[in-house]
Amino acid sequence: MTSEEGRRNLSSRLGIPDGNEPMTTTVHPITKASGRKVKSPAFNVEAVRADFPILKEKVHGKPLVYLDNAATSQKPRVVVDALMSFYTEFCSNVHRGVHELSERATRAYEAARVKAQRFLNAREAREIVFVRGTTEAINLVAASFGRANLRAGDEVLITAMEHHSNIVPWQLLTEEKGARLTVAPINDRGELIFDEFEKRLGTETRIVAVAHVSNALGTVNPVARIVQAAKRVGAVVVVDGAQAAPHLKIDVQTLGADFYAFSSHKVFGPTGVGVLWGRAELLEAMPPYQGGGDMIRSVRFEKTTYNDIPYKFEAGTPNIADVVGLGAALDYLRELGFERPAEHERALLAYATQQIEKIPGVRIIGTAREKAGVLSFVIEGVHPHDAGTLLDQEGIAVRTGHHCAQPVMERFGVPATTRASFAFYNTREEVDALVRGIHRVKEMFA
Ligand code: ALA
Repeated sequence: MTSEEGRRNLSSRLGIPDGNEPMTTTVHPITKASGRKVKSPAFNVEAVRADFPILKEKVHGKPLVYLDNAATSQKPRVVVDALMSFYTEFCSNVHRGVHELSERATRAYEAARVKAQRFLNAREAREIVFVRGTTEAINLVAASFGRANLRAGDEVLITAMEHHSNIVPWQLLTEEKGARLTVAPINDRGELIFDEFEKRLGTETRIVAVAHVSNALGTVNPVARIVQAAKRVGAVVVVDGAQAAPHLKIDVQTLGADFYAFSSHKVFGPTGVGVLWGRAELLEAMPPYQGGGDMIRSVRFEKTTYNDIPYKFEAGTPNIADVVGLGAALDYLRELGFERPAEHERALLAYATQQIEKIPGVRIIGTAREKAGVLSFVIEGVHPHDAGTLLDQEGIAVRTGHHCAQPVMERFGVPATTRASFAFYNTREEVDALVRGIHRVKEMFA
């Protein structure tokens, strides 16, 4: 392949046009980024690993065992190439220029919106708002929808397993409005107690905000059931999908929620960008979140009118390069297919759970019947930070701490946990390395 052909292939993946297709409805061809046969019967984890250059790294002289995917996942080469391509071939601002580079950048940016629409099975591309990440998405809903719709005495209902980013924005909002924040409890396995959740729903419940998957416990919440219950009292449902998007097939139309948020960097895309999906009719009725360029139709000192959605919520120059990179990540996932990687991951989590629960003195925190991606645990007599530091010496990257979910730690009576979190590129051998590492940690503290 000549470099010109290579450039054209990459450009077509990024959605840079060679024709006159309409901006927001173009479906771009998915090329085989890695040259892998995607229809082979077994999931070839080694072939997939070859797509991720960083997985060949050595850490403290040992092969990297990357088990911190819930914090951020690694990036396939096609994502890095997409960033390189943006900066070397069409770096320009979007929606503004009449020149060719700006056209290219705009096309690639808007093509990524269509890719995100497809990823979530949203009805329309204009329901996709690019934000900095899940945290900003939830803050946007709280600040815009929440401020416009919440009154004194109203309630926002969350669960006891939320990440701080799905707690604090609602605290800020309810404090400002004289409204109440209500919390539905979880059981000892780390599952939502559904009856208790239902009991807390009432006519004063305006917003229900839940994690699709808990970052600290791995619990998968029954979002469709939550939505059905919330709709009976007329509440709007906001779903924090940060930990679900890398593991589950998301279909916002089937889930029936009103807002869904996820972060690029957890779905193998660049950091600094994420997606808020919202129902068009809600987004249209909401006031802007931030003011600035691109979100306006006309500005006069007397009165400003606002742009259509989604642009009304994308003030200022957006994170163009990383949106383009996210588009490449979503293409990569589409090409990989969903079922086989997901099955590989499920088997890996089951294997890791089985191996780790056999180790005396190790307690798994979060044993929900339905889990995705995450294995949190504590080792008797060892602070998680010490465990994490010793595992790092073996080249094993895990996260230790409260995982931005302090109420979860309090619920389980621990200050912190060690968390191993998986992606489809992890292997059984890596789980075995983790198990050996835990034995070594125990020996050090014996
Ligand atoms: N929220 C991310 C995590 O759980 C950073 O690690």
